[in-house]
Amino acid sequence: MRKKIIAANWKMNMTVSEAEAFLHTFLHEIGGENGVEIVIVPPFTALAKVSEILGRGQAAKLGAQNMHWEKSGAFTGEISAQMLRELYVRYVVIGHSERRTLFGETDDIVNRKVRASLEAALKPVVCIGETLEQRDAGEVESVLHRQIKVGLQGLSVRELSDTVIAYEPVWAIGTGRTATPEQAQAAHAFIRKTLSELWDSATADKVRIQYGGSVKPQNAAELMSEPDIDGALVGGASMDPRGFAEIVKAAMPAH
Ligand code: PGA
Repeated sequence: MRKKIIAANWKMNMTVSEAEAFLHTFLHEIGGENGVEIVIVPPFTALAKVSEILGRGQAAKLGAQNMHWEKSGAFTGEISAQMLRELYVRYVVIGHSERRTLFGETDDIVNRKVRASLEAALKPVVCIGETLEQRDAGEVESVLHRQIKVGLQGLSVRELSDTVIAYEPVWAIGTGRTATPEQAQAAHAFIRKTLSELWDSATADKVRIQYGGSVKPQNAAELMSEPDIDGALVGGASMDPRGFAEIVKAAMPAH
């Protein structure tokens, strides 16, 4: 059984004090162990504080929004895997569509970052997904195939099983327009099939595939009930601690 993974991608939002206030309410709302892996992905400036509040507890893990592939050096404005590791960061989001479209990240750059993160024992959350034009042109599968093949090139089966994939159709991000559960499930099944062709089916079965794009408390349960949807990468709705707790609850295993 794949454990569901729900991540809060705060993007360029939340100061240190706002992050503190969020966690105060959120951790209270979710209580203890709940069978869901929760990852809080604050901006770099709030990582240290969020790390300190989460401590060694297992209530939620820490993620970063990006990293550079080099270990250190003259890369003004960049952050290395080692810097993240020291703050007990466990996950790092790589190749988010905003990085791809606004900051020119290509599948090759994604691949360098993915490999560097795994070498540093950080688990990458690799974002893939088509634009509306690509969907309308019938290119969903070819786009996803290329993003997986190039972005994850060279990963061993062990590295692949430590990797999380986030399927985020670009047209659904921040637009309020969610993919239907059927559309999302079809894309997730295709992603898993592609992984099984490029690696093997046992490994493909282990990889968690999150859906991202306008996930809200109102649509989370329906999306999470699809067989190949193993969690969510939540942007806008992850900044409200009560709403985000509801999304986590929607992913809890049925008793
Ligand atoms: P959204 O963002 O939930 O605001 O659509 C999702 C994401 O970009 O990860």
